[in-house]
Amino acid sequence: MKNITCVTGTRPEAIKMAPVILELKKNPDFNVTTLATGQHTDMLRQALKDFGITADVDLNIMKQAQTLDYITSSVLQGVGKFLDENKQDLILVHGDTSTTFAAALAAFYRHIPVGHVEAGLRSHNLALPFPEEANRILTDGITNLFFAPTDGDGENLRKEGKSENIFITGNTVIDALYDILERRKNMPEPEYMQNIKDRPMILMTAHRRESWGKTLEGICAAVVDIIKERGDVLFLIPLHKNPIVRDVIKTCLKDFNNNVIFTEPLNYPEFVYAMNKSAFILSDSGGVQEEASAINKPVLIMRTLSERPQAITHGTCILVGTERKNIREEALKILNNSEYRASIIAKNTMPFGNGTASKKIHDVVKKFLK
Ligand code: UD1
Ligand code: UDP
Repeated sequence: MKNITCVTGTRPEAIKMAPVILELKKNPDFNVTTLATGQHTDMLRQALKDFGITADVDLNIMKQAQTLDYITSSVLQGVGKFLDENKQDLILVHGDTSTTFAAALAAFYRHIPVGHVEAGLRSHNLALPFPEEANRILTDGITNLFFAPTDGDGENLRKEGKSENIFITGNTVIDALYDILERRKNMPEPEYMQNIKDRPMILMTAHRRESWGKTLEGICAAVVDIIKERGDVLFLIPLHKNPIVRDVIKTCLKDFNNNVIFTEPLNYPEFVYAMNKSAFILSDSGGVQEEASAINKPVLIMRTLSERPQAITHGTCILVGTERKNIREEALKILNNSEYRASIIAKNTMPFGNGTASKKIHDVVKKFLK
């Protein structure tokens, strides 16, 4: 029996690690532990629940206004203690959060091999996204098995001098998306849809640390500009739980009740439903760029660069930046010009895989632990 721990800390890690956990659990030779650091509480648990997973261990570290120092040191100590008390043969981490890096470091300090799911993504700018670009470089510095979603991500690793154990798998978010589309087949229409009816709907999410404050206010001002031009549109805004983000968005858009619907974070099936129903998506999220390409939905990425260039060249995403004027112009162009919208979708070759990433990861792990 081989002991494998899969670490999750935040919502996207849960969604993207879930298919890997489910796949590994099918193997009777593996004893799989789902460890939640609890960097996120409700958002993490909800996402795991959407896939029928409950964490075996929950470090429950989250507190309000948590600092990067606090997250990193709490995860390092918590995961370290777990690894001291429970012998593990492999630890899997996902992505680029502070949980990812600190959990990998705890394993490294104990000579336990690390598998990094979603390895190799690079924006080549340590400030954008912050601190995620550093987290993924640091994690890849102590990784044994690199599960790179695309050829480009594998190439990034090779350019850094890594030559062994790079596996191109596709992104596990596509596995998660297909799984959820199957699970939600018989679900009733989500409640928020009743207020949308046939109006064009723009789904918006924003949470990036580097956008806190003035940038986020500018994004909200762009939303107001769009509403003023197109009074028929509705913005569906599932608010991130972080008060630093939700308070700014709610304050800036409080006078636009006829055009803005705020919700709590949607569970994953509901969010996928909303993506499907939207005219297009405005977001600074990483995962949304990948998912939207898989369901042929245009996304305006409200960031100045992306570590997912394939989403722009071969997917349905446009890097619109964070300037109010650019967001307004590009959004109105998609809304008003159907040919332009069609041209965005036409370039899509679904660059993030075909939903078999977790199976590929399982097969590599099996061979590695033999
Ligand atoms: C974190 C990750 C980011 C990832 C994002 C996904 C780091 C440094 N940041 O950013 O890479 O893209 O998650 O959403 O690892 N909160 C709750 N309940 C929750 C979740 C969050 O109340 O379920 C609030 C808390 O007040 C918490 C705050 O949100 O202090 C910030 O959470 P944190 O994980 O520090 O940062 P995120 O911006 O969520
Ligand atoms: N998501 C969700 N409910 C929401 C908003 C997002 O389930 O209300 C999902 C989304 O489909 C994607 C992931 O959460 O899979 C993205 O998380 P987030 O934007 O918080 O993090 P990032 O991907 O930017 O790290």
